[in-house]
Amino acid sequence: MKVSVQKTDPIKAKVDVLVAPIFKEKNKGIIIPAAVNRALKGLPQKLIKEKPKVADEGSQNILYTTGGIGAKAVLLAGAGEKEKVSANTIRKIAGSAARTVKAKQYSSLALILPKLDSKDLTADAIGQAAAEGLLLGDYSFDEYKTPSKENPKTTVKEALILPDGLPVESVQKGAKKGALIAQNVILARDLVNRPANVVNPAYMVDVARNLAKKHRFSLTVWDQTKLKQEKMNTLLAVAQGSVNKPYLVMLEYKGNPKSKDLYAVVGKGVCFDSGGLNIKPTGYMENMKDDMSGAAASYALIALAAELKLPMNLLVVAPLVENSVDGGSYRPSDIIKSASGKTIEIGNTDAEGRLILADALFVASKRKPKLIVDIATLTGACVVALGEVIVGVMTNRDALAKELVDAGLETRELAWQLPMFSEFDEAVKGDITDIKNTGWSKGEAGTITAAVFLRHFIGNTPWVHLDIAGPAYVSRGNAYTPKGGTGAPVRLMLRFLEKLIEKPEILAKEKKKEESKKGE
Ligand code: BES
Ligand code: ZN
Ligand code: ZN
Repeated sequence: MKVSVQKTDPIKAKVDVLVAPIFKEKNKGIIIPAAVNRALKGLPQKLIKEKPKVADEGSQNILYTTGGIGAKAVLLAGAGEKEKVSANTIRKIAGSAARTVKAKQYSSLALILPKLDSKDLTADAIGQAAAEGLLLGDYSFDEYKTPSKENPKTTVKEALILPDGLPVESVQKGAKKGALIAQNVILARDLVNRPANVVNPAYMVDVARNLAKKHRFSLTVWDQTKLKQEKMNTLLAVAQGSVNKPYLVMLEYKGNPKSKDLYAVVGKGVCFDSGGLNIKPTGYMENMKDDMSGAAASYALIALAAELKLPMNLLVVAPLVENSVDGGSYRPSDIIKSASGKTIEIGNTDAEGRLILADALFVASKRKPKLIVDIATLTGACVVALGEVIVGVMTNRDALAKELVDAGLETRELAWQLPMFSEFDEAVKGDITDIKNTGWSKGEAGTITAAVFLRHFIGNTPWVHLDIAGPAYVSRGNAYTPKGGTGAPVRLMLRFLEKLIEKPEILAKEKKKEESKKGE
């Protein structure tokens, strides 16, 4: 889909479908673009009078046209109360419009974007949300569908954004950013949606290679031999039951070459999680091609950082394995010495994510970054606690969690903090080792105890752990997210990084707090 912002008069736009948002406004009733109403000889106004629900958020009504207007049809897109409209309302309207237009096998649309009076909704933000919605809503994973006469491959080829009373250049700037964001979210979605017989660790290395070439990232790939030299035994242990060899990928983007400050993102890359010898039962294994969503999101994020020219140095570390079952698999009760030197007893081979992250976090922390964020489909417990809609946030610097929660509310890729009180520390203590890879029995506070395990490998580096087990892959979806791989938390993380750039004092403040704590 090609998205562009144009000054064209909506009535004259030569497209299949003209999308007109309609709002409810206090004292004024329901508002539709006057020119559209006129061109359709008052039909929209009549419809609205008879059926006021047409203006409710999410409602869609199509009017087919017989001339007097460039479009073949007008889609009235209910936007709800005008004063409540947020960037997400725009994203949703654009997303469902793209989906409807696609479902009706039309190939072009034009979306009217009116002026909105909310302070937070700048013309930039409106343009960005519209472009994100259009592209993300149009997305479907159909690489493996053979097109036929009954089911042809349909795409919306062209989407025009038509600002109505908004400064065109600002909308254009926002739309350009939104399109880049969406394209990279889609990169992550595709990687997650492709099955594990395609996306194995070697494939993920190839993807990293292509990204490095395209964006001039420096790339380091550790293969099994090198991983052995580096004593990355926990990563190797998880991988040893699979014919697909493990790798560790490191990608580096230098957007602030004058500075030595480095930010690290570590993404869990389990290309398929069968559970290992503690094999997952039917009903729990089918979606486990999504267990590399953290790695996919970290790839998309660094690509986006480069395309948006974020002024920061970003390191991505992706441990890539398959957790499989054979005579060579690691076992419950095995004891492994991690790269950090800590010994770990395996309580459950299905708690493999934290094992590969242990070594990857240790490697990342050796680079002395300002911050490490890890992104992982880590625990089923997080899906129970926060559902498919919220990213679990755990951190050793609480101010960072607040920024993430705010970034979540802004992007509507929601995030919420779970606490890491010291009472949880004993949950991962080993009987005969330093630590174990399981927490308390019955999975009590399983998301937090997994994070407590990870904390053993980051030293005192400021760190945030994002458990994306729920939002990475969804069974329901929304207006701009079909079910399956979502590309979460790429939009959330981009906004978070932008906040760190805008307010570097967030990290500095936390540093001071830490220092004063030491003095206590
Ligand atoms: N990949 C899973 C977590 C997961 C569950 C992701 C559901 C997405 C949806 C992870 O490796 C896992 O199996 N965790 C175990 C840990 C337990 C054995 C301590 C879990 O959550 O049950
Ligand atoms: Zn597992
Ligand atoms: Zn897993």
